[in-house]
Amino acid sequence: MLKIAPSILSADFSCLGNEIKKVDSCADLIHVDVMDGHFVPNITIGPEVVKCIRKATKTPFDVHLMIQNPDQYIEKFAEAGADIITVHAETGTHLNRTIELIKGCGKKAGIALNPATSLSVLDYVLQDVDMVLIMCVNPGFGGQKYIDLSTQKIQSLKNMIIRNKLDIDIEVDGGINAENIDVVVRAGAGIIVTGSAVYNTPDPEEAVKQLRMNAYK
Ligand code: DX5
Ligand code: ZN
Repeated sequence: MLKIAPSILSADFSCLGNEIKKVDSCADLIHVDVMDGHFVPNITIGPEVVKCIRKATKTPFDVHLMIQNPDQYIEKFAEAGADIITVHAETGTHLNRTIELIKGCGKKAGIALNPATSLSVLDYVLQDVDMVLIMCVNPGFGGQKYIDLSTQKIQSLKNMIIRNKLDIDIEVDGGINAENIDVVVRAGAGIIVTGSAVYNTPDPEEAVKQLRMNAYK
């Protein structure tokens, strides 16, 4: 079943707990964007904040680490309450070790790929991960435009997963809204991250419902 993961990057950071509660009844996951100002040109939150907002909801936390040296922080995010931990393929010198580290913490492991990164980086790790995150914008900021080439990348990944007879979720992140959600779903995405299309609206709950309705239009 399709999962919608509102990204709190576009929420009001002065009251994140309340912002999460706004989508709690309709979100499948809460997407938490962690940025370090090195891997991406923006800085957001760390494990201490994740620990605090964990109290606001029981909905699983999908933590997207856009940070260098992710190995150094995996345990901290796991302890803070992450359920899925995703690292970028571009940051991992020892990607296999990183995946083992996440799984060793009892969490689901995801690998994220920037728009310019080839699917071939997955050749020797795909069988070990629970999820692949296809970035449909260059990571760092909410509210950017969907990069059209992402659609064929999602399709190719879907074929790769089927070919290898694997059971892996495809998550998509960046520029997804009520107008184009059907495109990524048709291409094979099963988890939809959406930030501005949910939080930059007067009624985030309604926005999630609308996205779900439009997914199969
Ligand atoms: C971008 C983040 C996204 C972001 C998506 O670097 O990883 O999760 O919040 O925001 P929208 O949906 O506005 O593109
Ligand atoms: Zn993200």
